[in-house]
Amino acid sequence: MSKTIHAYILSRLQQRKDEGRYRTLKLLNGLIDFTSNDYLGLAHDSKLQAIVAEETNKVQCNKFGSTGSRLLSGNSYYAEMLEQKLAAFHHAEAALLFNSGFDANYGLLSTLPYTSDTILYDELVHASIHDGVRNSKASSIPFAHNNLEDLGHKITKAHGRLYVVVESIFSMNGDTAPLNALVKICEQYDAGLIVDEAHATGIFGAAGRGLVVELGLESNVLARVHTFGKAIGASGAAIVSSQALKDFLINYCRPFIFSTAPPLHTLAAINCAYDLLQQEPWRLQQLKQNIMLFKSEMSKHTNIQWLPSDSPIQSIIFPGNENVKSIANALQQQGLDVRPILSPTVPKGQERIRICLHTFNTKEEVIKLASVIGQF
Ligand SMILES: Cc1ncc(COP(=O)(O)O)c(C=O)c1O
Repeated sequence: MSKTIHAYILSRLQQRKDEGRYRTLKLLNGLIDFTSNDYLGLAHDSKLQAIVAEETNKVQCNKFGSTGSRLLSGNSYYAEMLEQKLAAFHHAEAALLFNSGFDANYGLLSTLPYTSDTILYDELVHASIHDGVRNSKASSIPFAHNNLEDLGHKITKAHGRLYVVVESIFSMNGDTAPLNALVKICEQYDAGLIVDEAHATGIFGAAGRGLVVELGLESNVLARVHTFGKAIGASGAAIVSSQALKDFLINYCRPFIFSTAPPLHTLAAINCAYDLLQQEPWRLQQLKQNIMLFKSEMSKHTNIQWLPSDSPIQSIIFPGNENVKSIANALQQQGLDVRPILSPTVPKGQERIRICLHTFNTKEEVIKLASVIGQF
């Protein structure tokens, strides 16, 4: 092994430690879950697991893996059926499956916008969008979070075909993009609006169709990214769009072309979870009750800097990486699984405890969480 490379690796690790940003993998067992993205409890639902097992048996596919990319041996009737179902559910012409939301965002943004085009993106979008933008041949301009005035100003300076990229529910703040107003700006400048619905999938819109459908903006949006590792309880993602954009991605999008397709078990899990979304509306109702309960409990603590939202994501600001880490530790000691989000993942001074509420959190657990947070 090269000594120079080893020394470089150690020095970069030391740098992370010196900055107070050293990451380690942790297993926290037995704590109350206020951190996972399993908003509806589908990832550990035994009924869903049984339905998925039955479904995979029924399909009688005798291979574990998909064995290749979709363009080679990895395509299946099941994948095509699922794409049609997803497109219909999300009111789109077409859907294209990806192995992850990261791949979908990265693939879309690094492929579609081209030389002499401009991508305008909300400064708080997910790392996968940032990386896609960075690898695109287009120019890029960030705009201030949810700031229409800033976007309106910057879009006048943009050139070529224009793309505007936002999350419908922002992953770190849990707040909502002003989609109606964004659609108007995009129409005025003939820009394509791309909406990452990762945290709205399963949560907003009828039976979880997403915020774009809730607002009736399906035909005004160029592409939506729905991910399946959060409320859907599985993994993977789909870009829902026009048939032409789907065909474009099949031809040009490298993370789609050069990656092994998801296996049947994953596709069946996604398919059955979507059925459950429609059959069991109580999950969403209970989640919404927990969100309301948490907000009303937190409103008793006026000393706390908190970013209230209508989504399952609630962020409590505790500035400083060391400060937020020690508060997260203290909460964990009290049996609450919450994790600190450090800068630069969020801007300096905005370090936070990011709470995810779930269908399966009991009333007592939610009240305890708010009460313990209130002590800091
Ligand atoms: C807004 C957003 N988009 C995309 C992703 C990536 O999705 P996946 O975990 O399926 O790769 C995430 C994951 O955290 C996310 O929060």
